[in-house]
Amino acid sequence: MIKVENLSKKFDGKLAVDQISFEVGVGETMVLLGTSGCGKTTTLRMINRLIEPDGGSVYIDQENVGGQQPELLRRRIGYVLQNHGLFPHYTVLENMSVVPKLLEWDKEKIRNRSMELLDKLKLDSTLGKQYPSALSGGQQQRVGLARALMADPPILLMDEPFGALDNITRADIRREFTELDELAKKTIILVTHDIQEAFEMGDKICLMDKGKVMQYGTPEELLFKPQSAFVASFLKEHKLLLELKFLKMGGHTAWELLEQLELGKLKEILFTLEG
Ligand SMILES: Nc1ncnc2c1ncn2[C@@H]1O[C@H](COP(=O)(O)OP(=O)(O)OP(=O)(O)O)[C@@H](O)[C@H]1O
Ligand SMILES: [Mg+2]
Repeated sequence: MIKVENLSKKFDGKLAVDQISFEVGVGETMVLLGTSGCGKTTTLRMINRLIEPDGGSVYIDQENVGGQQPELLRRRIGYVLQNHGLFPHYTVLENMSVVPKLLEWDKEKIRNRSMELLDKLKLDSTLGKQYPSALSGGQQQRVGLARALMADPPILLMDEPFGALDNITRADIRREFTELDELAKKTIILVTHDIQEAFEMGDKICLMDKGKVMQYGTPEELLFKPQSAFVASFLKEHKLLLELKFLKMGGHTAWELLEQLELGKLKEILFTLEG
């Protein structure tokens, strides 16, 4: 559904994104993983043309997005911004209404869809009248997602959607999000610097460093067949826990077997080691 080919972007003569390529199938979740400044946000924003590339192409449904009107393109692509990106002077409902208003939905349709999504994302309907500053970090992230889902776009770009949260809230919201019916059929590109998150959510992972793709493949491929010393060392500290979650033994993962043995304590210890 999405094909990125040799995409590059320079800022002030310096390559922020350097000839990156990947493909995302319909309904897949692809994770862009890498440390701060490696070019994840820049890559994401070239897909919905908030940034124009200096080289390479992006195809959606085999059509080059370079030839499409950015406004029309963005109606098909939901975008969850890094640090939620809510408009501070708009209420929650006003934030959620931005795209529907562009699409000239009537007031009732906007209201009904807003209420539906607030409910699905476990946000009290009274929060609709609040400004983002009155919401907790977790609530802001949920509103950011609700806003991107309003017009039910087939593609969703999510930039660190769980970024500003503590580890426990992060894991909880992540689990909730993956169970949402609204997300089930979407083609998603998710940006994160969190290795656990990438392996938990990605059908494919694109590991980036300094604007380049270091390895692109399934979580299992990155874990068990790292293509370079960089990839192996990037995953090193998480390797044990990830292997327990991915290594299959008689149809179960090692992690599931530990759970069945109720070795809860061992899991806790591993989590602690994981930091
Ligand atoms: N508008 C801009 N002007 C100049 N340089 C920029 C601009 N946007 C990004 N850069 C530079 O490009 C590089 C990649 O930035 P980008 O925001 O894509 O990184 P990132 O992987 O999303 O990082 P983070 O995890 O911190 O969000 C960085 O070195 C950044 O300083
Ligand atoms: Mg970023």
